[in-house]
Formats: sequence, structure tokens, C-alpha cells
Amino acid sequence: MLKGRHLIEPNDFSLDEIESIMQLADNIIANPEGYSMVCKGKLLASLFYEPSTRTRFSFEAAMLRLGGEIIGFDDPNNSSVSKGESLGDTIRTIECYSDIAVIRHPREGTARLVSKFAKNMPIINAGDGGHEHPTQTLTDLLTIRKFKGGYDNHVVGVCGDLLFGRTIHSLVKMLSRYQGVKFVFISPKELQMPENILNLLNDGIYKETTNLDEVIGDLDILYMSRVQRERFVSEEEYLRLKDYYVLDKKKMKSAKKDMIVMHPLPRVNEIATEVDDDPRAVYFTQAKYGMYVRMALIAKLLGVEDKNDKCI
Ligand code: CP
Repeated sequence: MLKGRHLIEPNDFSLDEIESIMQLADNIIANPEGYSMVCKGKLLASLFYEPSTRTRFSFEAAMLRLGGEIIGFDDPNNSSVSKGESLGDTIRTIECYSDIAVIRHPREGTARLVSKFAKNMPIINAGDGGHEHPTQTLTDLLTIRKFKGGYDNHVVGVCGDLLFGRTIHSLVKMLSRYQGVKFVFISPKELQMPENILNLLNDGIYKETTNLDEVIGDLDILYMSRVQRERFVSEEEYLRLKDYYVLDKKKMKSAKKDMIVMHPLPRVNEIATEVDDDPRAVYFTQAKYGMYVRMALIAKLLGVEDKNDKCI
């Protein structure tokens, strides 16, 4: 039962609970009209302390497409945060008005912290610093399910900024819970996967390399990521590393015919736009699935009912 629960990191939910979200997302994709009023009378608070396009818009679109409504901010300076109000007081106040809240914050651990203040309102982590991004992981799972038929036994290449990439940390933790998944971590030495994530993985299920060309032909899924300027202390270091990998048509020639290229977006230079027309490039469909999976998540956490009066 997911009603009333918080989602702070992917491991907060069991695999069965995640499967129930995926099945509901499938149903919503097949019959969006059937769910267009299930959240009528419900309010989602959208609290973005850090910029976003996909996560914010897809959450807001999700709630509106479920028949609910939204309040919130994308610039905390327009709220009483700018007067020095604490996060705890902000959440306790928002809870007076809303049924569910989504929060993105640049500081790691913020979503977990604010969930302690919310007594009757599910909190969804929409990204906390370089830590976790669990709804991106749900998006990624739905994409893999749709394009690869399931999660088991894939060789997953994860390329780019593995040090600061919260989408990557959440995805790797999640996929490692499925059978037979193997990872190839592709990054410059300076941006390697942190020890705390590697320590969670069984021996033999991952290898690390700096060379994308050498491994691309082995992959079932290539998950590209952006080198994140906002996480670097040194601009010089960012400029040195930002174009370390550029996936282009030439590289794609070495990939399997059924490999898929995923990316949480935004993209900067790491995938050349010439790759966008390749049928294996699924990142914009992935962004669309993000809305459907967030519809399913909101409906589950609110415990709302569908047209047949069944609790979904
Ligand atoms: N994937 C993702 O989190 O994108 P935004 O930063 O645009 O929300």
C-alpha cells in the first residue's frame, strides 16, 4: 500500500510496489481519459529550490492531467524563504493547504529532512543535490520496460559524470536489485562512481573504464549524462571535462542494433544532435514517460480511486 508514503530514494519502495506503479503507468498510457479526474479536488505543491524543466513540468502536467490542481514556486525568493523561514516551517505551512508535495533542493538530504515535518502529506524527492532523483529512476524504469521488455540481464553502460550524477546514483541502486544486470561505468578518472555506491554492488557486476569506444558494442543500454557545471567548485576543471564524451553517429555504428540510448536530460554536448534521429535514441520518449509515471506515482501516494471505484 503506497497511500500516504514518502518517496525520498528508490529503495523506499519494494520491487512489488514499483511494479504496481509501472502497471498503473501502463494503464494510464493505454487509457488516459480513464484517469483524467481521479485527482479532482486534490492539490499538489511544487517546491523547486533549484532549476528544472522536465521534473517540474512533468509533475505539474501529471497532476493537471489527473484532474488535480497545483500551487508552488520555481524561485524560492518569491516565498517567505527569502525572509529567512526555515524548511521545516515552510513544509508545515504548505501541509495546511496541499495534499502532496514535490521538492527539489540543491542540498543533499533535504527531502528526507522535510519528510520528518510532513505528518499527513506525502513528500516526493524531485532531486536533492548530487544525492538521489527517485522519480527520474521511475521514468528510466518505465522506459527500459517499454523498449527492452523488462529489467533483468541487461548490460548497462553509464557514461559521463558518475560522481555528481544523482540520476545515475538512483538508477544504479535500483537496477542492481534486478537479476543479472551488469554495469559498465564509463567516466573520466575525476568523475568516477563514488565508493559508497560501488560498495553496494556485488563483486563482478560492474567494471570501470574511461573509454566509451572500447565498450559501446557490449551494451544493451547506454545511459548518457551531462557534466554538471553547477556541481563543480572549479570552472577550469568543468571546462576541461565537459566534452570528454560526445556520442555521435560514428560511435553509434559500433553499437548493437537494439541498444537504446537514454539520457535524463538536459543535454549539453554529450550527445550530438545528429544522433536524435537514430531509432535507438529514446531520450525524448523517456521524458514523456516521466509524465505518465509521475501520474501513476501521485495517484498511488494519494490513494485515489479510478472510475470503477477501485483504489488504485
Ligand atoms: N531529468 C531532469 O531532472 O531534468 P530537469 O532538471 O529539467 O528537471
